[in-house]
Amino acid sequence: MRTQIQICDALPSTNDRLKDLAQWGAPEGTVIIAKEQTSGKGRLGRRWDSPRGGAWFSLLLRPPISVEQAGCIAILIAVSLARALREGWGMPVGVKWPNDLYVRGKKLGGVLIELSSRLDKIEWLVVGIGVNVNNALPTEARVPPTSLACELGRPVPLEEFFERALAAIAHDYERFLSEGFEFVRQRWQGLSVLPPRVLVRTGSGEIAAEVLGLSQSGKLVVRTGESVRELAAEEVTLCPP
Ligand code: BTN
Repeated sequence: MRTQIQICDALPSTNDRLKDLAQWGAPEGTVIIAKEQTSGKGRLGRRWDSPRGGAWFSLLLRPPISVEQAGCIAILIAVSLARALREGWGMPVGVKWPNDLYVRGKKLGGVLIELSSRLDKIEWLVVGIGVNVNNALPTEARVPPTSLACELGRPVPLEEFFERALAAIAHDYERFLSEGFEFVRQRWQGLSVLPPRVLVRTGSGEIAAEVLGLSQSGKLVVRTGESVRELAAEEVTLCPP
């Protein structure tokens, strides 16, 4: 995949800009980077603080897969980013299903995927990535945040971050297209920071569950009581110790 990068000074949300471009036929590999976002979006309708100094960007993919398999891409992106951060800066990054990046119990970044489909096939998929690099951290965060600069004790050149992150994603995406999800699933097993037992929050309440692993389509496989379930987009809350 060849990337074509557009850098903007400030945007409401790189995902929203790239969704517009996707609808007009922009090619796979289009990347929008914003130095700052004024209405950054997180998962589950949350706000995403995006001041200057952070890595806020979106990547357009057109994978020949079904909507059912979109979870694979979410996991692939988180796993690729973790690899780039480990290899580039020796950062002990873990992945919290579905696609949050954690370092030493604090959230370093996250991924927001939005897609359009026709007859269950994906037409376009916008991968929005937010990583705290040199930016000021939110003061009122749901989970304690951290940044690359905080963890390393020095600022990190953003150009180097983008280069490493996009190279890792492009490489792993090509591999996924040619050989499938299994290599990602195996890497995920070594990176997951989910504890063996989690609380699954669904529309109807919270259920204690035992984590069994990851399915072939990127879903979290859990045991609740006697039954084994595969979770797609539900929120997984860590059990209190
Ligand atoms: C999350 O952990 O909730 C996901 C956060 C995703 C934030 C990124 S920043 C770039 C892109 N544009 C947005 O508005 N959101 C994503």
